Amino acid sequence: NAFYKASRTGYHFQPEKNFMNDPNGPMYYKGYYHIFYQYNPKGAVWGNICWGHAVSTDLVHWQYLELALVPDQWYDIEGVWSGSATILEDGTPAIMYTGSRNGQHQSQSMAIPVDPSDPLLRKWKKVPENPLLLNPTGISPHDFRDPTTAWLESDGLWRITIGAKVEKTGIALLYTSRDFRHWELQDTWLHHVNATGMWECVDFYPVLEEGKLGVDHSILLGPKSEQLNAELGGEQPPFSDTFKYVFKVSLDDTRHDHYAIGNYSTATHKFVTDRPGIGPRYDYGKFYASKTFYDSKTSRRILWGWANESDSEQDDITKGWASVQALPRTIWLDAKTGSNILQWPVEEVDRLRGGLTSHDSTVLEPRDIFKVKGGDGPQLDITVVFQKPDVTTVDRVVPDEEFDCSQGGSAHRGVFGPFGLLVLTDDNLIEHTAVFFYITPMKSGAWTTRVCSDQSRSSLAPNLDTTVYGSFVNILPTEDTLELRVLVDHSIVETFVQGGRLAITSRVYPTLAINEKSRLFLFNNGTRPITVKSVDVYQMSSVAMHAI
Ligand code: FRU
Repeated sequence: NAFYKASRTGYHFQPEKNFMNDPNGPMYYKGYYHIFYQYNPKGAVWGNICWGHAVSTDLVHWQYLELALVPDQWYDIEGVWSGSATILEDGTPAIMYTGSRNGQHQSQSMAIPVDPSDPLLRKWKKVPENPLLLNPTGISPHDFRDPTTAWLESDGLWRITIGAKVEKTGIALLYTSRDFRHWELQDTWLHHVNATGMWECVDFYPVLEEGKLGVDHSILLGPKSEQLNAELGGEQPPFSDTFKYVFKVSLDDTRHDHYAIGNYSTATHKFVTDRPGIGPRYDYGKFYASKTFYDSKTSRRILWGWANESDSEQDDITKGWASVQALPRTIWLDAKTGSNILQWPVEEVDRLRGGLTSHDSTVLEPRDIFKVKGGDGPQLDITVVFQKPDVTTVDRVVPDEEFDCSQGGSAHRGVFGPFGLLVLTDDNLIEHTAVFFYITPMKSGAWTTRVCSDQSRSSLAPNLDTTVYGSFVNILPTEDTLELRVLVDHSIVETFVQGGRLAITSRVYPTLAINEKSRLFLFNNGTRPITVKSVDVYQMSSVAMHAI
């Protein structure tokens, strides 16, 4: 079927065939970016989990390598599950991963390169001491997985954290080690949140309070924090004043990635969040089991996340593949708000930009819908800038707190919104994926801004998950534009709002709006005019991915 073929992406990372899930062990080593991933070499559904492996010099062109880790030991015979890479003090990498056995009993093991001088790190060996960690007392062997990258503190101990749960409380266990082989469970948890269930794929990393540069955990060893710690003495937790910590968890119950910003005390070895609760999501669409790494080549922190399919398992079997990785994203703290991180596709993605079509300012009257020139085809990078509407021009507002992206979606009519883009749309507007703003007056008199991604009309095909995604985005009083960057690639639409303050990834499977039949539109379904300041549309090239 043509539409099954048309759903394969052109510039996102995906294996040649079969099933993929979590990104694992991302790192930069001797000139290459490495990505490993949960992979079923035998089929397009989850099972027989191995670590697939690919390398790149620019994070967009990938070459597939042989499987890095396969289930071949008693302790991982049911699957080599998720884990992370750490660059050790001698500069060589080590992988910590979860082995599954005996009906998904989980333990943690280690693998090291057979030849660390090989920049491709083609062959890996499991260490004889495996498994290094069994589930501790009080933790079920079913709830103990996905070790993080390790970090070294000034006491000379390596630390890792591992997700688990106790009854309904999601927890992050903390372990220390001097030699990376013998690990000791600490009696305090790094972090926990009640009633959140099993914590998968936890991630924990520092971010600078100002600027885009990424930092590694080694910042904990820096003179700044040492001096600060000395001044504070033993009484108070020695927090740094220049960086914060981010803790991310993938909630098994809801299948969403949440993050919290806070401080990490090297005295108590606890993470203390700035705000209570599990925190916002990285992405309000399909984005799970994500993981960051520190890119020492360019001093960035880069985030990888898994975008699973919204079609059925039967569709996946027919296609012969399932899942893509969302584009790698640079991630840093939003200094303007201090309360969220920003995400933006790595700048290498821009090198895939081909022909540009730019449009000048125009006004979208209520009910307008315009075809955007230059927006034909299934691989686009679109930036649209709207003038923030002046809400004070509305004198009598009816509170619209009921509106929610999933109720009516783009077909709803408000005052300011919905307005935005229709991507992957056919000439007759039968199929379309709407990405739009909706500005809502609240009872308090304040206006809030939502962004939604509406999949309800994306495809005529049956058996798809067409959930509408969305969330509120913080628009600061000093900001007078509303901005969307939308990357379209056949069956994935990645939306970045307001410079990366909000992200929404969706998976869609048009049957009419495929390949060269796909169009781009701008629309305004609100009752007030909206000014579009600019629209820039790039055609995106494909990247050929081969085995080497
Ligand atoms: C998350 C996850 C991990 C586990 C892996 C198994 O998607 O369930 O917790 O290690 O996938 O493939």
